[in-house]
Amino acid sequence: MDYIVNGGKKLCGSLDVYGAKNCALTLLAATILTDEEVVLTNCPQIVDVDNMLLLLSAVGKRVRRVGNVVSVRGAPTTAEVPRDIACLLRGSALLLAPCLARCGAVTLPLPGGCAIGARPMDIHVDGLRAMGVDVVDNGDSLRCVGKSHGTNYSLRFASVGATENLICAAASGVGEFVLSNCALEPEIVALTQMLVQMGAHIDGVGRSTLHIVGCGKLHGTEFHVIPDRIVAATYLSSVIASGGELILRNCVPSHFAAFAQSVCDNFTFRHTQTEAYIRVKRQPRGYGHIVTAPYPAFHTDMQSQVLSLAALSRGRTYVTERLFENRLRHNCQMLQRMGAEISLLGDTARVDGRRLYGAEVTSADLRGGAALVVAALGAEGTTVVHDEGHISRGYVGFADALCSVGADIHTS
Ligand code: EPU
Repeated sequence: MDYIVNGGKKLCGSLDVYGAKNCALTLLAATILTDEEVVLTNCPQIVDVDNMLLLLSAVGKRVRRVGNVVSVRGAPTTAEVPRDIACLLRGSALLLAPCLARCGAVTLPLPGGCAIGARPMDIHVDGLRAMGVDVVDNGDSLRCVGKSHGTNYSLRFASVGATENLICAAASGVGEFVLSNCALEPEIVALTQMLVQMGAHIDGVGRSTLHIVGCGKLHGTEFHVIPDRIVAATYLSSVIASGGELILRNCVPSHFAAFAQSVCDNFTFRHTQTEAYIRVKRQPRGYGHIVTAPYPAFHTDMQSQVLSLAALSRGRTYVTERLFENRLRHNCQMLQRMGAEISLLGDTARVDGRRLYGAEVTSADLRGGAALVVAALGAEGTTVVHDEGHISRGYVGFADALCSVGADIHTS
């Protein structure tokens, strides 16, 4: 799909934030840990979630969706994860521990998703091996056999996906587990909360060290997917790029506090626990030095959006990407096509903000694609963003939502 954006229109109005992709994906994978029904509400209707539902069906789960409510039940019948679907999304990696727990063995083709870096799975593998699982790396797939047994394990890096897999392995394993240096992302808190509701014994929810007593099979529950903080940050970035004012409903501002502090505080910005309001009259003199790092620091999934904003500002910004080695380069090049003044040195972009102009650009990943639309909203003239289906993997009706508050975007 192409997004044809006529820039320079002020945005004004209110937008609702929907359920978070990365929360829905990990919760859906965890439904495998029980045969009983798990009902997820606020589950976003996006391509990555559709593909995760296909993966669940492929391993034998019975899946039903009515609007934003998804019900999953039944025992998994196979632990051969189909390659043709697994390669479409990174979230397929999250099936590893749940399928292993229920089937005693699993073959997982290496997952796909955004090409933003090498994205190895060594921490997932190392953690499972520490739990006594036999893991063979076949180059393009992982074969795991065995049950996870209690151990103390410290992740060498607070990987989101590895934390999620190891929590599932421990909750459904045998014995006592202490997992330290766990990632702290809100999706992980949501996962542990849902597992506790399903009968798991987990102490330390929301902290980097978790004490977990394995309890085998869990039971059914109902859980509400948390609002998507990246969608919230993208909507806020859109109004910052174009000017105007926006009320954001159904969001959790504490989940994007680092973004709000570094970016939104340059403007009139107020929030409650579930809503945010921003008014943007003029661009700031840059955003200082933004450095991505695990939660609660500045989130890598908001880096591309802030790069676009920096390019539109009236001053200098440095943007350093510390998580994914290929996440800066492509958008720097695309923004340069729009007239941006950017130089890239290693993992840091130096951006001298100025007026941007419409151009033809292509998105290379989900957040990067959305960020190019953000830049286009603040640019003069018409920008065509060629998107190979990246944006719809994580955003519901992206163009329609922005048009509802005054943007001029056509899709073709
Ligand atoms: N890493 C390793 N070894 C591992 C696992 C990770 O070296 O075994 C490295 C990665 O290469 C990367 C860093 O650790 O440099 C962080 O990776 P992490 O495992 O935390 O990321 P992920 O689980 O693959 C999830 C989200 C991403 C988000 C990151 C960071 C899902 C499905 N994806 O990926 O979301 O950027 O956490 O917060 O949950 C997106 O939504 O657009 C997206 C890319």
